[in-house]
Amino acid sequence: MRLLVTGGAGYIGSHTVVELLEGGHDVVVVDDLSNSSEVALDRVAGLTGRRPEFRRVDLVDNDVLASVFDDGPYDCVLHFAGLKAVGESVEQPLRYFRTNLIGTLNLLTEMDRAGCRDLIFSSSATVYGAPQALPLIETHPTGGTTSPYGRTKHMIEEICYDVAATGAGWRIALLRYFNPVGAHLSGRIGEDPKGIPNNLVPYVLQVAVGRRPHVDVFGNDYPTSDGTGVRDYLHVVDLAKGHLAAMENIDRFEGARAVNLGTGSGNSVLDVINGFAEASGRRIAYEFADRRPGDVPELYADPSLAAELLGWKAERGLAEICADGWAWQSANPNGYASD
Ligand code: UD1
Repeated sequence: MRLLVTGGAGYIGSHTVVELLEGGHDVVVVDDLSNSSEVALDRVAGLTGRRPEFRRVDLVDNDVLASVFDDGPYDCVLHFAGLKAVGESVEQPLRYFRTNLIGTLNLLTEMDRAGCRDLIFSSSATVYGAPQALPLIETHPTGGTTSPYGRTKHMIEEICYDVAATGAGWRIALLRYFNPVGAHLSGRIGEDPKGIPNNLVPYVLQVAVGRRPHVDVFGNDYPTSDGTGVRDYLHVVDLAKGHLAAMENIDRFEGARAVNLGTGSGNSVLDVINGFAEASGRRIAYEFADRRPGDVPELYADPSLAAELLGWKAERGLAEICADGWAWQSANPNGYASD
């Protein structure tokens, strides 16, 4: 199949492109490189022996996007492109709504025009807001999101349901990711955030390689096993394989349908720090700090719909996440700028 991958040079996008190329598909990547690097695509080519076609495109620029579709057809679109930093979205809501919403509206419009109506979208567990019950199942109410970033994910889901309801033959997989972490088993591609990382795992890794002095642990008085926040950490290679499974089973998404991608079990912040200390053989200094506004104590998936619908389940646990994440960071202490 010929696939269009938006945000394909980014963290989750690049890992998925590897799986798609290894699955024998042809891939066209569009990415504005605002939070990613073309080096990732060089490394993807090195890993797979195949280079995805690349075009530097901002999805907000409708004319350029239209020209990408003029060079189609595409059998399916995988849409990763978007801004994703929770704190930044509170400071710059208009930028988040413009990039994530207008980018997606332009994409849906061009897909409709081209008659390509199979879409896999990067949604997030953030759409559930504060969980009313755990584990989270897809029927849990959505909305009540705590940031403009989270609202863009929820709004895009709602837009997709409305578009699918036209009966024009859309098949849209809304994949609700839990916490994607880790790196490709080769250590050649991984997460390379620009600036100070917002998320736990890249922060811990930068402490492990000596780029930062210590990790602030946001809250140690949560009602969890050790008082720190609990999340469902999912190996990025498992997540990438989940996209392949969604694509292969796209006929099960007639209209639009949401599916959780998570492991089904949670780990605390201290579990993660200890896991990376073990994998790296280094001491990872941390200090307890105040809770971060908007954080919930505990979040983990019920992944049974993904198993039933896609035949997918996560195969890698925290030990592999830490080993592979460390292999990437230690070989590339400054991310892709290490090249
Ligand atoms: C957030 C978003 C999620 C998004 C993900 C990646 C929400 C509610 N969640 O997940 O949608 O996909 O980021 O962009 O919008 N922590 C520390 N110290 C740190 C950083 C984090 O203790 O320096 C703790 C947090 O309090 C939390 C856990 O580590 O308990 C995970 O945090 P993080 O990696 O930022 O992910 P989420 O907030 O779960």
